[in-house]
Amino acid sequence: MVDRRIVWTSLGGLACIVAACTSPPVPSEPAPAPTHGAAGIGDEYYPEAGNGGYDVDRYELDVRYDPERGQLTGEATVTARATQRLSRFNLDLRGFTVSSVEVDGAIADFAREDSSELVVTPPEPLDEGSVFATRVRYEGKPVAAKAGQLGGNGWYRSPSGGAFVFGEPQSASFWYPVNEHPRDKAAFSLTATVPKGWTAVSIGKSGKSTTKEGWTTTNWTEPDPVASYLTVFAVDRFDVETGELADGTPVRNVFAPGADDARDEAARTAEIVEYLESRFGDYPASTAGGIYLDSATGFALETQGTPTYPSGPDVDLLVHEIAHQWYGNSVSVHSWADICLNECFASYATWLWAEDKHGADLDSFYRERVEMMPADLWAEPLYDMGAGNEFGAVYVKGPLAVHALRMRIGDESFDELLRRWPAEHENGNASWEEFEDFAERVSGQDLDEFFKAWFRDTERPADEHLHPARPSR
Ligand code: TRP
Ligand code: ZN
Repeated sequence: MVDRRIVWTSLGGLACIVAACTSPPVPSEPAPAPTHGAAGIGDEYYPEAGNGGYDVDRYELDVRYDPERGQLTGEATVTARATQRLSRFNLDLRGFTVSSVEVDGAIADFAREDSSELVVTPPEPLDEGSVFATRVRYEGKPVAAKAGQLGGNGWYRSPSGGAFVFGEPQSASFWYPVNEHPRDKAAFSLTATVPKGWTAVSIGKSGKSTTKEGWTTTNWTEPDPVASYLTVFAVDRFDVETGELADGTPVRNVFAPGADDARDEAARTAEIVEYLESRFGDYPASTAGGIYLDSATGFALETQGTPTYPSGPDVDLLVHEIAHQWYGNSVSVHSWADICLNECFASYATWLWAEDKHGADLDSFYRERVEMMPADLWAEPLYDMGAGNEFGAVYVKGPLAVHALRMRIGDESFDELLRRWPAEHENGNASWEEFEDFAERVSGQDLDEFFKAWFRDTERPADEHLHPARPSR
């Protein structure tokens, strides 16, 4: 139900704009009693991920990391808008000792709860709609990554003594206080300081480095909204190569010692971006390139504008991670149950690449793969697969399902869908259910049975869905 008081005050505000604030103020009821912001944003899979009661506008981080001591010192300023009248609110942070929290410059009380909640109580309640800045000072030895379903989430050490932190669905809370859910995307900037001789890298555009008293500082700025798991921090004795895409977008390829075998693949970044632009529309990220590690994380992560790669990446892996810049990064999931929007499409991008660059016959490739599918993969749903199981079927069954959709709606509708989806949700969020509606609109077909068979059911789809006849044009 609509809260009358909210309607009343917002109408009051509107009246003030229209009358140029000359009319007497509309009498308003007293502000509602302040309440606690929820400890989670409302994702069923991860009830404690993210928080309620506010929406972050930007993160401004100042992080100093010494790889020799494995010690991090951070100061984070989180600027947010209250979405309710707040008596207190949470940020997500794992490990570290918090030394102080200020809200709009005033000392705030804080407490740590469970493994990831930093509970902040400002001296005065925050009004709904107000913008407030929370500054957190923290330090300590970061929490090492534990195995996730794919790569581990948290901090890794590199063979050359460096360190990096990444992961999905959670990683940002391992290095800064954050509203850790893709539903709350925000701008991001970082001032990173490491001992001279080391290089810190992150996402976004980087400024010049300066060295003072044995420490080197570099600024990183990502103006586009970014889901927090797509931020990364890596420190190593990197070799940095810079360039530009044809339109001036900065390209930064960063190689860890021992990652030289990735140079040939990295050199194809512009070619891959251009190819994917021909299928998905304009490249949405503010930078391009990659962080090439010499680590056996086993997995890459599509960190925004600058994916992070394990040792020995092949071109298909670059195509996959760069495709995520549209599918996953610019358009982010609403809930983790929607992960197929990221992985099914990024995985299908390598099919498109094979078709257009190498003349692959995708229909016959598809038929072979369908016959090779093990029963336990048919049993995995692509939508709402359950917490901790997000990555079970999306890489293998996912691209098959996308190809089946293409056959079902025909190439013309499918090509339109591939470009329109990222354009319509640019820098936003969307859910799987929205995608189903969208595909029906674009194709003009009723796809309920098709989507049920491929994305929700837990068995091999019936032949009519497995081998749909392409529409005649
Ligand atoms: N999204 C990554 C990809 O498809 C895979 C991934 C999932 C991952 N969870 C991770 C990578 C944790 C590193 C750590 O490329
Ligand atoms: Zn992926």
